[in-house]
Amino acid sequence: MAVIAVYSAKGGVGKTTIAANLAWCSAHAAARRTLLWDLDPADGAGFMFALEPRRKRQARSLFAGDVTAHALIQPSSYAGLDLLPSDSSLRELDSMLLRMGQRHRIATLGKQLSRSYDRLILDCPPMLNELSAQVLRAATLVIVPLSPSPLSSRAFDFVVEEIRRHTKRPPPTLPVLSMIDRRRSLHLEALAANPTWPAIPMVSAVEMCAVHRRPLGTFAPRSPAALAFARLWDGIERKLAQIEAKTAVLA
Ligand SMILES: Nc1ncnc2c1ncn2[C@@H]1O[C@H](COP(=O)(O)OP(=O)(O)OP(=O)(O)O)[C@@H](O)[C@H]1O
Ligand SMILES: [Mg+2]
Repeated sequence: MAVIAVYSAKGGVGKTTIAANLAWCSAHAAARRTLLWDLDPADGAGFMFALEPRRKRQARSLFAGDVTAHALIQPSSYAGLDLLPSDSSLRELDSMLLRMGQRHRIATLGKQLSRSYDRLILDCPPMLNELSAQVLRAATLVIVPLSPSPLSSRAFDFVVEEIRRHTKRPPPTLPVLSMIDRRRSLHLEALAANPTWPAIPMVSAVEMCAVHRRPLGTFAPRSPAALAFARLWDGIERKLAQIEAKTAVLA
């Protein structure tokens, strides 16, 4: 199983939107058994897939081992795609992980899911803390959404540096220019400065995901943004294949 973390220390850069749409691409286009794990107490991923919030707030109990992941996992409306939703109990997750002193708790829980899923996608809160360090240690690949500005390369370098600081074997990273508006010169500059980085357009169709509470591919499959998510997913699959081949050679 590959663990794909959608991570940035910055808020509002499109992490949840990208994680939700990639999870759908993984299950639908790539036919991978996919789990979207929401680690943000804001519960954006559950909302995006129109899940009913559970009355019992148990998301944090999973980390203490008081409840199993399978007891908390909910199916989405789409074949091959399940969710491990968050709830407000995750607000105290960071301090709990620090208290527990198990630096690889998220990785361990992820491994337990590897029999049931091919792809585990992590929607992360915008934090630099023990939780984010654990996410980075667990990740096979880190997707870093960046706001399109001339500073995006610096923002990306900052995340890469953070990853190096917190991991012994830093996972590969894939920067993504999120919310590109080609009418804006600064956005065009960011694209020109980073021509190999995937880009997701800023369009109202993407915002509508949170209104319809469905991934874009289900209601506007031929839209440029849906095609951009599909291309991004293809790029991720290619990168995972490279990582797998490299790991096989080293093994
Ligand atoms: N490509 C896009 N085009 C237009 N709007 C977008 C796009 N991507 C995200 N948005 C909008 O931007 C807002 C923030 O997106 P999102 O919640 O995915 O960011 P986030 O990084 O997960 O935020 P947080 O750090 O608060 O978790 C949302 O209203 C979302 O609908
Ligand atoms: Mg989010």
